[in-house]
Amino acid sequence: MTTNTAIPAGYAIEQVDLHEADDRLIDRVVAFWHAMDAEAVPEDPPMPAEGLVARLRTRSQFGDRTDWIASSGDEVVGRIAVFENKSGSNEHIREVMLHVHPEHRRRGIGSALFSSAMAAIPDDGKTKLVAGWTTNRVPAGMAFAERLVAKKGMHMRVSQVYLRAIDRALIREWANVQPAGYHLEFVENDIPDALMPAMLQAFTAINRMPREDLEMEDWKFTAETIRDWERQRTARGQVQWMLLAIEDATGAGAGFTNVVFDPRIEAVVHQGGTAVDPAHQGRDIGKWLKATMVERILADLPKARFIRTDNAGTNAPMLAINDRMGFREAWWMDIWQMPLADAKAYAEARGL
Ligand SMILES: CC(C)(COP(=O)(O)OP(=O)(O)OC[C@H]1O[C@@H](n2cnc3c(N)ncnc32)[C@H](O)[C@@H]1OP(=O)(O)O)[C@@H](O)C(=O)NCCC(=O)NCCS
Repeated sequence: MTTNTAIPAGYAIEQVDLHEADDRLIDRVVAFWHAMDAEAVPEDPPMPAEGLVARLRTRSQFGDRTDWIASSGDEVVGRIAVFENKSGSNEHIREVMLHVHPEHRRRGIGSALFSSAMAAIPDDGKTKLVAGWTTNRVPAGMAFAERLVAKKGMHMRVSQVYLRAIDRALIREWANVQPAGYHLEFVENDIPDALMPAMLQAFTAINRMPREDLEMEDWKFTAETIRDWERQRTARGQVQWMLLAIEDATGAGAGFTNVVFDPRIEAVVHQGGTAVDPAHQGRDIGKWLKATMVERILADLPKARFIRTDNAGTNAPMLAINDRMGFREAWWMDIWQMPLADAKAYAEARGL
């Protein structure tokens, strides 16, 4: 355990390996996670504990997660998770997730956790940027990011559509578009090998998404990175539905849309990505994909209440489709970024 004057009195901050930690610690981290979710998304049922445990324990082949926790006696009151990305693209970015329990804020725990984690990142020139998310539902997070002098990289609108109120006639109309020369493949969970090339082709189009000021390059996707996500998703107990639009003549992947849900809490369906390859644009493939997915949700997930999605506030084409489908703004999220050198200087100024 680290002891340092920069750590607020009455609290302990330590680096922990939550992949291997004993169940008692894991249970405390899960309780803390539930408390933080209840603050940010109070309308959702709690995420199943087994799913959160799997998130903590599962390792990725293309990245490492390192955790620090803050505790007061036996209670976990804060956590920072730092993700080292080894996926072959955007390896200059380390994503951080930082939370402090509302009853323990403004005592320096957030800055002590952040500083401990930043001091531990090797200064070898590989990591250039630190990035993290905040929501306007928890203004304390945004105030903290401003205090760090982080810069806003992206401003994202989270919106949701209530399925009971959705315009079924419009959805029917779009699902019936059936662009000539294309067909759809529906995949539940893992992508069959035969569809992997088309899937990678369609998926790459997600790089067309606006990045606003985020210092991010194109993501590279390979069959191995996809298989790694699938393995982690299955371990968490989540289900993915994917619709792929395929060009009949060539077998090319023209576009895709995917949703993810946890069968233990079917009420909330999360929209993943939706993208159409520029070579196949202008044929209503986007609307066709989205509406066909909604029809399947309405038919096969009767307990689903809403679909939730997030988009860059500047993503006019996607927002226009979503708005017409009845998606309405729920809250906003910001992705903040700061140079690693600045984050390390902040840590050093706090004696860490
Ligand atoms: C962000 C968060 C972790 C900060 O935890 P914390 O323990 O309260 O942070 P600290 O006490 O170390 O605050 C450090 C400085 O940030 C600023 N700050 C933090 N919260 C603030 C608030 N609500 N209003 C204004 N300034 C604030 C202050 O300058 C503060 O120093 P000060 O108290 O000496 O003035 C906590 O608010 C939280 O869990 N928010 C929700 C999750 C989130 O948004 N995480 C951040 C991005 S990954």
